[in-house]
Amino acid sequence: MGKLIIKDVEVSGKRVLMRVDYNVPMAAQNGQMVINDSTRIKETLPTLRHLIDRGAKVVLMAHLGRPEGKREASMSLRPVAVMLGEMLGLPVQFADDCIGEAVEKQVASLKNGEILLLENVRFYGEEESNDSGFSEKLAVLGDIFANDAFGAAHRAHASTVGVATVIAKRGGACCGGLLMERELQFLGDELENPERPFVVILGGAKVSDKIKVIDRLLEKADVFLIGGAMAYTFKLADGICIGKSLVEPDKTEVANAAIIKAKQKGVTFLIPTDNVIADPVDTGRKNRKGRAIFDLQNPRVNTARDIPEESEGVDIGPSTAAAFASEISKAKTILWNGPMGIFEDSRFAAGTFAVAQAVVDATKNNGAKSIIGGGDSVKALNVAGLGSEVSFMSTGGGASLEFLEGKELPGVAALGNAR
Ligand code: 3PG
Repeated sequence: MGKLIIKDVEVSGKRVLMRVDYNVPMAAQNGQMVINDSTRIKETLPTLRHLIDRGAKVVLMAHLGRPEGKREASMSLRPVAVMLGEMLGLPVQFADDCIGEAVEKQVASLKNGEILLLENVRFYGEEESNDSGFSEKLAVLGDIFANDAFGAAHRAHASTVGVATVIAKRGGACCGGLLMERELQFLGDELENPERPFVVILGGAKVSDKIKVIDRLLEKADVFLIGGAMAYTFKLADGICIGKSLVEPDKTEVANAAIIKAKQKGVTFLIPTDNVIADPVDTGRKNRKGRAIFDLQNPRVNTARDIPEESEGVDIGPSTAAAFASEISKAKTILWNGPMGIFEDSRFAAGTFAVAQAVVDATKNNGAKSIIGGGDSVKALNVAGLGSEVSFMSTGGGASLEFLEGKELPGVAALGNAR
């Protein structure tokens, strides 16, 4: 059964306590924290406008970073309140805390259609431990609980689960926001019975992160395209020399099992036939984690089956990009999760950008539904300037992956069912 969504709940004059995922990337600039990417804020605007138009009193809860239960100035949500106000073209009030008497007074003085953003819920350790007392304190701030934080729905925390339990017990509605609805529709319903051909593109660093996703999607897909560093584990499993490429040697069995399953299911399963490679040279410097920093020198295309001993694969090659684009051009449904190479370095971005362009072309020319499963592939599309040209980009990272594995996310499970 579908989940209860905010548009089916009477909100006029009610205090709607809504969890949002405003965990946005920030950096210090001239002593101030500046938001680098406001996508997650932007994506909540439809729900907020819906609530404002209907005269709800909106109280927003969110986390930022991992302050581990301590007040951390660099992780304050205050800059988010400012940006949200600018985006909405309305004043957004900010509470210096997320619980307590002063906050309760601020909430009590809200008029219909006004918005208040609470300070980072993770300034309290009780948030992550889903403490019932803390959940009660949050729950006094709302008549209705709404959750638009798909990106945090894999966390069973007080602001995603505990508070819903308290409000539901009180007889208050617990519903998804409009962004939550879209996430569940695209990553859930649309992939349940996809229009065919259904092409899955997977990249990123590790096979181990995506074992369950691969296994589940092999049940549904017609074509699988594998790029990124995880492809080297598939190559190794096939007896190919991968030089100094990133690899998980203990996951070759998993890779082989996927290839066997693909054969059994009649799924076309492609791994790169050529790669951009480079030679890692130790700079003698160390990163913050104390690991050696390598300079990737002498970038070139390798068309041979084996990657030379001294080299590392850093992107898919042009033939692979063309073969992937050809499969993508025929798709009616596309799911993409994970870049094809180190796209953050412009020398190794061509493969990821070629796939991004192919996904956009299939959306435009073939009417394909293109769904980007969050994280780095969303970043890559945005860097390529193509973010608005796909059907849907998830705001989730870990949450999208767990959802695609077929798990029921605790933050979703806590919502009421559609009436
Ligand atoms: C995310 O950025 O993926 C979500 O906001 C969850 O953050 P977390 O991994 O710190 O729980």
